[in-house]
Amino acid sequence: MSLLPILEFPDPRLRTIARAIDPSELDDAFRAHVQNMFETMYDAPGIGLAASQVDDHRRFMVIDVSENHDERRVFVNPRIVSREGEQVCQEGCLSVPTINADVTRSEKIVVQALDEFGKPFELAADGLLAVCIQHEMDHLEGKLFIDYLSPLKRDMVKRKLAKLRRSAA
Ligand code: NI
Repeated sequence: MSLLPILEFPDPRLRTIARAIDPSELDDAFRAHVQNMFETMYDAPGIGLAASQVDDHRRFMVIDVSENHDERRVFVNPRIVSREGEQVCQEGCLSVPTINADVTRSEKIVVQALDEFGKPFELAADGLLAVCIQHEMDHLEGKLFIDYLSPLKRDMVKRKLAKLRRSAA
């Protein structure tokens, strides 16, 4: 097991649109990579990690919103097939450290995807899990949660992170 480096805003690689995965790619090496992504996410710590964030531009993500790290979910080629309602949730992102902001998302979604073995599944999600799925799916489109903020607020975020990096260097 190994921890993977996480790309941070404003790294342009986070803007890459992920490509669909062919089921033939879901081999042992892929599953080992998925394990590393879970370890990286738990270590951070976070509740979701899209492949884009570890500079892998294939369409998949890992999520575990449980407290005990026992609800691992892998979504390969995820697709939202229905949405209902709205919720506002304060979000953060491992690629945008120390920043939190309110984002409006669908309250309930139904998502279809493959698991890490290529088995199709459908999941109805609401609350935090629904938020997390929508947030990670945005990453696969090269989109970050701070893109929903006003340009002014986004600039503030950029400056805050630059300052943070300078003081860490
Ligand atoms: Ni994120």
